Amino acid sequence: MKILIVGSGGREHAIAWKVAQSPKVEKIYCAPGNAGIAEYAECVDIGAMEFDRLAAFARENEIDLTVVGMDDPLVGGIVDVFEAQGLRVFGPRKNAAILEGSKAFSKNLMKKYGIPTAAYENFDDPKKALEYLEHAKMPIVLKADGLALGKGVLICNTLEEAKEGVRSIMMDKRFGDAGNQMVIEEFMTGREVSVLSFVDGKTIRIMTSAQDHKRALDGDQGLNTGGMGTFSPSPFYTKEVDEFCKEHIYQKTVDAMAAEGREFKGVIFFGLMLTQEGPKVLEYNARFGDPEAQVVLPRMKNDIVDVFEACVDGTLDQIDLQFEDNAAVCVVLASRGYPVKYEKGFEIRGLENFKGKDGYYVFHAGSRFSDGKIVTNGGRVLGVTALGKDLKEARANAYEAVKWIDFDNKYCRSDIGKAIDEA
Ligand code: AMP
Ligand code: GLY
Repeated sequence: MKILIVGSGGREHAIAWKVAQSPKVEKIYCAPGNAGIAEYAECVDIGAMEFDRLAAFARENEIDLTVVGMDDPLVGGIVDVFEAQGLRVFGPRKNAAILEGSKAFSKNLMKKYGIPTAAYENFDDPKKALEYLEHAKMPIVLKADGLALGKGVLICNTLEEAKEGVRSIMMDKRFGDAGNQMVIEEFMTGREVSVLSFVDGKTIRIMTSAQDHKRALDGDQGLNTGGMGTFSPSPFYTKEVDEFCKEHIYQKTVDAMAAEGREFKGVIFFGLMLTQEGPKVLEYNARFGDPEAQVVLPRMKNDIVDVFEACVDGTLDQIDLQFEDNAAVCVVLASRGYPVKYEKGFEIRGLENFKGKDGYYVFHAGSRFSDGKIVTNGGRVLGVTALGKDLKEARANAYEAVKWIDFDNKYCRSDIGKAIDEA
């Protein structure tokens, strides 16, 4: 088979690596890809939002299956464009990717179908939102409705902060059109867990759990980022939590989407918070998490191409999804200054140290070729993942492997996976 992967980050590198394990696959392309993905795939210089060019490429190169890693093209309707041309593609159509694309939609869906989530109100008028805040309990959470690179959520401790937040989201349009509507919701406390799943429209198969570290600095300080590291499984995702979610969240979400005429095929990422009252949904994403994919996929036993095809064909009920009984930790190596201001173009040294080392992976998030070398090309540069028999061993291995890599301004958190000591 010939596979095209759409995207250019660590998640797409992990997908490309996993797809390359499949004996069915003879050729992988990635658009636009990066210098790490180039090890497994021929990188094609077409942007992820250039749907017509991507579809033309898929036709001309007789691609058997396209896998879309990123949220923007999914929410923008890439799957519909491919399907309209008779091309096989893994991911939700536009009318289903709205599960991630609109927080107002997903909150209304959860309310309608009784899926546990924080209490909330939706607003499309900033005046009404400001009035509502006058009587609301602090802290409170403001969410821009649309996609905002994972940055559209503001947690406000005081009324003044919250009012300022409404003004910046809805009036100053800090997140652009993503702020035309917004959700104001109850502040919850508890541990966060990411759960990824495969969905074929009817059946859902849960992957193993993971936990992300969103803040830039140690001790969960600093600004929110795209993710500074992950571990899998989460020791807080107990059997009881799993049973609760299976009964109240996972299948209910898939059935709700089908009942709304928005059959979901692809990956649903459940962002959960384990509150005193039980697990609640913080958010849905319509794709693999990044960097969650970098700890979940190395632990997956199945041929991922079989699973992708089962999702497209509606035969996921015939797949027995299996994960290794081990653990993985991913530490993101960023450029100092990320997520605000950072430099690019520094040579990355030491990548060869990963060659032939089982259980160690280096997934590229932002890299490119320059004069025969690989240089940094983003705020998040690499995700260094290591396996271990348990989380402690995986963490020690990952931090050991972090030392194998060097580039100017290299920065990483030193406490990825520290939470496991509290489990
Ligand atoms: P989201 O993009 O919706 O996952 O939100 C980003 C982050 O904001 C989450 O990972 C949480 O840490 C935090 N967050 C979102 N909603 C809430 C909430 N209702 N209560 C507390 N924290 C929240
Ligand atoms: N790691 C969070 C996300 O992919 O949205």
